[in-house]
Amino acid sequence: MRAADIQDDLTDILVTEEEIHAKLEELAAQVATDYSGKDLLLVGVLKGAVMVMADFSRRLPMNASMDWMAVSSYGASTKSSGVVQIRKDLDTDLHGKHVLIVEDIIDSGLTLSWLLENFESRGAESIEVLALLRKPEAAKVQIDCKYVGFDIPNEFVVGYGLDYAESYRNLRDVAVLAPHVYS
Ligand code: IMP
Ligand code: MG
Repeated sequence: MRAADIQDDLTDILVTEEEIHAKLEELAAQVATDYSGKDLLLVGVLKGAVMVMADFSRRLPMNASMDWMAVSSYGASTKSSGVVQIRKDLDTDLHGKHVLIVEDIIDSGLTLSWLLENFESRGAESIEVLALLRKPEAAKVQIDCKYVGFDIPNEFVVGYGLDYAESYRNLRDVAVLAPHVYS
């Protein structure tokens, strides 16, 4: 669905599908140059990164392996605690691999900071991060993210894989959720 299909649930459209695709095309060219001749493993973080992974990886003009990880932040409330639980681990041995973590969004940065540390202990040759979205004002820890699609304001967004209570992932655009939806 497009933002126009659910207008009442959204306030601003921050990034359209067309803008996302153009940006992923750019990032894919950049990644292919940077990893030329290397054994690249793309690691997607479920479930939010499914759309980014699908669209980015198909634009990548080089071969790459793909694996998935599912994690959840546990602790009180909706806020990321930084304590992460692995729900589904990788199937791949990271030894000697050049890993590119593919993420939907960097909010506090706590999840990624934990993931980066975890991956480093598994003997990867290199580890970098690609995130479609980043909220600079929400950062609690600084993440060294080599490939960023768009910096956005500190608001709760949905679409293009991002959900509110498992809903809105199939929205093609990225938009701010209207406050009345929360209540
Ligand atoms: P962090 O640990 O705070 O960086 O949180 C990262 C995860 O929280 C992301 O991978 C998303 O799954 C989720 N998240 C953060 N911000 C949003 C948002 O605005 N909308 C939907 N999900 C979000
Ligand atoms: Mg995520």
